[in-house]
Amino acid sequence: MQQLDVIVREARPRIAAASTLEELDKLETELIGRRSVVSETRRTLGSLPAEERPRVGAQVQEVQQELQRVLGARRAELEREAEDRLLAEDRVDVTLPGYLPAEGTHHIITQTIHEVVDIFVGLGYRVATGPEVELGWYNFDALATPATHPSRAESDTLYVDWGPPEDEMLLRTQTSPMQARYMEAHDPPVYVVVPGRVFRSDTLDATHSPVFHQIEGLAVDEGITFGDLRGTLAHFAREFFGPERTIRLLPHFFPFTEPSAEMAASCFACDGSGCRVCGGNGWIELMGCGMVDPDVFHAVGYDADKVTGFAYGVGVERLAMVRHGINHIRHFYENDQRVLRQFV
Ligand code: DAH
Repeated sequence: MQQLDVIVREARPRIAAASTLEELDKLETELIGRRSVVSETRRTLGSLPAEERPRVGAQVQEVQQELQRVLGARRAELEREAEDRLLAEDRVDVTLPGYLPAEGTHHIITQTIHEVVDIFVGLGYRVATGPEVELGWYNFDALATPATHPSRAESDTLYVDWGPPEDEMLLRTQTSPMQARYMEAHDPPVYVVVPGRVFRSDTLDATHSPVFHQIEGLAVDEGITFGDLRGTLAHFAREFFGPERTIRLLPHFFPFTEPSAEMAASCFACDGSGCRVCGGNGWIELMGCGMVDPDVFHAVGYDADKVTGFAYGVGVERLAMVRHGINHIRHFYENDQRVLRQFV
């Protein structure tokens, strides 16, 4: 009997001192498990004199219940502590800034193409695209460029397949072949712009890349004159570089236009007085152009006595370099975010 009292007295501080659930489990086994003094005493009840049994039995029961109560209370405490700890460790700081997905944007070359194309769409032009692997016929022959022309040499043009000149397959060197393809597929009148990638056997330098972009323009109708060409390109220059721009047309040669010209716009940086942007002469050369050669009309089955037209071809990289002061063409292709992010 005394021993049972002692057990409860000694157990209290030990239970209070249990600092983990495992420790408490061990204590519980020791205090009220099958091999505990309490359980052993209960097992010996039967051997006690009958008059002592109820009293001792009641006390064993009381001690067992008290130990269970104290153990249970401590268990609840430890469980609450464990839960609090878990919550504290798992805490998420909802005030931290979130991750913003990068939005992305069009490349400066694509932006420039869209801008130029939009200007001509505003004049009623259609937009077309064509194959980058092209037949010699469309890239050269249909454009009045004979087999002996220097641009057809392997030193200038990247060939996919050799053969008789018209059957040759090559990477188009210009967007001009779409003049012929478009006229073959459509009756006049034709007003079309063709943006696209072109290829030349060039070594990379500040202003040349073996792959670059052009935009071709073609207008064919009854009574189209050189004045229409001039007015259209002047409109383009004003839309692209600002309302103060004027243009200049100097005689030039292209196999598929007659007469041909090189178009330049007055410098947007110095207004024509001469600066670093225009190289000092006040003019920025922008594109080749001219009146469609009747031979081109013949090649596509148009009646050269009924229609006339003009064509032009502009380099997209050159436009973007001039306008944004970009000093090397490789900046367009290296995908350096520090460069591209300036044009979002
Ligand atoms: N295709 C020519 C080139 O790559 C540019 C050009 C010149 C296009 C005159 C034209 C044109 O349509 O009429 O150099």
